[in-house]
Amino acid sequence: MVAVELPDVQGLIIRGYTMPVARYLGLSIREPTGARELLAALAGSNPVVPSITTAQPWVAKPEYCVNLGITFTGLAALEVPRASLDSFPVEYREGAVKRAASVGDIGTSAPEQWLRWLADSGLHLLLILSAQSGDALDAATKRLEQAWSASCVELGRHDGASLPGDAAHFGYRDGLSQPTIEGVPLAGLPDHLPRAPVGEFLLGYPSQFDQFSYPVPEPPELGLNGSFVAFRVLEQDVDAFAEFVAQQASATGLSEELIEAKLCGRWRNGTPLVLSPDTDTPEPPIPSDALNDFDYTEEHADEHGYRCPIGSHIRRMNPRGQRVAGAGGHLHRIVRRGIAYGPAYDPAQPRDGQARGLLGLFIGVSLRDQFEFLMTQWANDGIFTAGLGRTNDPLIGAQANGAGSFSIPRPAGSVVLHGLTRLVTTRGGAYCFLPSISAIRYLAALV
Ligand code: HEM
Repeated sequence: MVAVELPDVQGLIIRGYTMPVARYLGLSIREPTGARELLAALAGSNPVVPSITTAQPWVAKPEYCVNLGITFTGLAALEVPRASLDSFPVEYREGAVKRAASVGDIGTSAPEQWLRWLADSGLHLLLILSAQSGDALDAATKRLEQAWSASCVELGRHDGASLPGDAAHFGYRDGLSQPTIEGVPLAGLPDHLPRAPVGEFLLGYPSQFDQFSYPVPEPPELGLNGSFVAFRVLEQDVDAFAEFVAQQASATGLSEELIEAKLCGRWRNGTPLVLSPDTDTPEPPIPSDALNDFDYTEEHADEHGYRCPIGSHIRRMNPRGQRVAGAGGHLHRIVRRGIAYGPAYDPAQPRDGQARGLLGLFIGVSLRDQFEFLMTQWANDGIFTAGLGRTNDPLIGAQANGAGSFSIPRPAGSVVLHGLTRLVTTRGGAYCFLPSISAIRYLAALV
């Protein structure tokens, strides 16, 4: 088994922080020498400046955590030499704006509609703060502002706050399934799925593909132990979701709870449909640490999707052992971090005009084979497996408004829900490199 030097790796790649508030800050570099000093400080050279949180296990949970993403234009602004810039993968070099259409960011999700700071090619650094309280978040922000004020300008920021019960805005419990990564401490629920090799999430190790490691950007001091993240501001139309579920319940005679569960693949409380197809409170209860221990084959065989529809969000995003094109069910795992933004939705006060959604971080060693693959092949198309046709993911798909459909397979014949609208709109995104701590020091010492 490969040994990972945990203190050299940014913590959010390896574990979730489970903190109730977060802030994402976008900076543009105005003065590279000062920006390199900022990086040195973030890598620990200045005790007054909050330093990057690493993957080293905690003795005590800190008050806040800080992580750093750098866009491709950010590396250029830091005066990384051309040959080194050219060694980064093309999808990262092109960036989220240029790649938008390929991942379904069209129409109302197109970059022309994004928050301005995320569509700005001058976005260089993304600071990711998580904290145990609003006060801790503000205090850390203040110290960071002092550290960057001489060399960078803030282009924009976005705050997030977790919802009660670890829920996402459509009401489902989230954050249950994460890949179990070989060689690093277990950071999620146990499952019996194949362990993800560390090279699927960190550069410089054997990947999930046989005898293959993703090329490490040059020089190795910069590339090794790094990773990539797609940051996404995903606005959720909870009114449209609630209306669709209510209409379909009255059209089909199925309960609203069951329709919601079928769309996601889990009941609102996180109980997986494949383990409990008829109720969210099975007897005997499923222990909380077993909520991710399932598959769609073998012991829990559900080939036709009678329990968990093949087109449901979680089955598309991780088909597990199910037969899919290219035998790739286990080859496109992704680490998800994120937090909700906007106030909790109150069904008694619909159409309150409040923006709400998810600030999502989708992490992997290859933006193309992980984040982009999930969006293009599994979320926005259905030909990767039998029974879907050219449909989209019901929760995050880019279906034209009202033109989507969703099939609930049943032995007596499928129930098809029609009139599915786009429920999640992209309000912005950024492709960032997540350098190791030694890479941040390397960048700080450039020139
Ligand atoms: C606002 C947008 C989104 C919402 C509301 C949402 C909601 C959820 C929920 C409720 C779950 C089940 C909880 C769990 O298994 O941890 C889930 C799982 C998952 N989602 Fe999403 N999601 C969103 C966007 C995305 C995007 C953009 C991606 C991929 C790029 C994604 C990939 C996944 C994956 C990989 C899983 C785990 C599936 C499994 O391992 O069984 N999600 N999501």
